[in-house]
Amino acid sequence: MADQSKIKRVDLKRIFIIHGPNLNLLGNRDPEQYGTLTLDKVNSAIRKKARELGLEIRIIQTNYEGRIIDTLHRRRKWADAFIINPGALTHYSYAIRDAIDGIQVPVVEVHLSDIYAREDFRKTSVTKEVCLAQFLGKKVDSYREALEYLEKYLKASS
Ligand code: DQA
Repeated sequence: MADQSKIKRVDLKRIFIIHGPNLNLLGNRDPEQYGTLTLDKVNSAIRKKARELGLEIRIIQTNYEGRIIDTLHRRRKWADAFIINPGALTHYSYAIRDAIDGIQVPVVEVHLSDIYAREDFRKTSVTKEVCLAQFLGKKVDSYREALEYLEKYLKASS
């Protein structure tokens, strides 16, 4: 039998990624703003980047505000950090803002498009202030940048 004391546990930092409403439509939805990749391809790119950085990740997409809040609550013990693209909820969900504020786990906000260069209603993010950082306007690279940022942040704070 293997000597358990000699097996080194690989302690990867864990990032939980939440894609919010309508992001399941990527690939069909306004390619100029959101790119041409489907959500599956976006997730493959995210997984590849996470592997390169040595991060363990889980990913969900949901169209429901309550599921985003439940996920932040339930996964807060598993996750060292979250990456969230709250979709249009970014602009008005004080419930998601309060959840982020309440969980005591770092959260980074991501957008595929540049929300500050679009319609006025998109220029407000009610979640940004309670997030550690915001990455936007670079399509799938916004997620890659968020992973790079968190890898450095978590290394520095451990
Ligand atoms: C988005 C920007 C939001 O304004 C929009 O409602 C989305 C996607 C983005 O990733 O650019 O659904 O969050």
